[in-house]
Amino acid sequence: MEPTFNFWDNMAKRYPRFNDASMSKDVNHIINWCQNKNVSFEGASILDIGAGTGTIAIPLAQKGAHVTAMDISEGMLAALNEDAKEQGVSAKVHTYQSDWEAFPLNQKYDIVIASMTPAISDEQKIEKMLGATKGLGIYIGWGKYRNNKLVEALVKAHTTEEEDCASAGCINANKFIETLKEKKIPFESDFFETSWTDTYTFDEAKEYAYDQLKRKEITPNEAIVESILVSFIKDDKVHVTTEAEKGMVLWNVA
Ligand SMILES: C[S@@+](CC[C@H](N)C(=O)[O-])C[C@H]1O[C@@H](n2cnc3c(N)ncnc32)[C@H](O)[C@@H]1O
Repeated sequence: MEPTFNFWDNMAKRYPRFNDASMSKDVNHIINWCQNKNVSFEGASILDIGAGTGTIAIPLAQKGAHVTAMDISEGMLAALNEDAKEQGVSAKVHTYQSDWEAFPLNQKYDIVIASMTPAISDEQKIEKMLGATKGLGIYIGWGKYRNNKLVEALVKAHTTEEEDCASAGCINANKFIETLKEKKIPFESDFFETSWTDTYTFDEAKEYAYDQLKRKEITPNEAIVESILVSFIKDDKVHVTTEAEKGMVLWNVA
């Protein structure tokens, strides 16, 4: 279950924007993979569920798509609108703040997309996503692993149990695939390895660490957090590297 404190609004202050180099690398890989499968975004109506700062919505609007970018976080959508305006694609992106469960689905889109979002956290929410498209669906989720040594160290130091970091947030791409198989919906999928490093000031890193722990319903211990963060400092900054596999799933209901 997602936490009640505003984790995503806090994350919005640090979440990569559409032009972040590491993020663009993954998004370009995903868009190219889709285009190689003959997906055309130009002129398509697209619903991006849990769109965040517009990491996918903005590049797709730049390709001529009409994107409805929905997200639970006001902060994420504010960043998205700011960048859409700056890129001159505001007219192509419509934002809507809502929990996916409550989102009023009063039309079907050419393409529905959800990428790395806990909006799609169970069968019911997958079902709603499948019903949102009259054509194609694209799901991006974690693959076999996601390693973040800072979060692992923080959790380990605060708990006695082993924490499966890959279980936090969005559902795994393979779980999504199982649902499509059960429903006999034809799909294609592929997996790729990726990694990125976020660089924070000590105070930013402390806020990040607190958010990650609170999200797992763990009460942060300031002394423990600070002592762990110190071991991640290089050149006065805290560097947090994540290594992961991501899975891409493309299906067609037409
Ligand atoms: C990790 S970000 C992914 C953003 C973007 N799709 C991407 O791939 O970069 C997850 C996003 O899901 C949003 N989110 C989380 N729970 C949600 C829900 N129940 N309904 C809608 N959006 C949700 C968060 O606010 C956040 O912007």
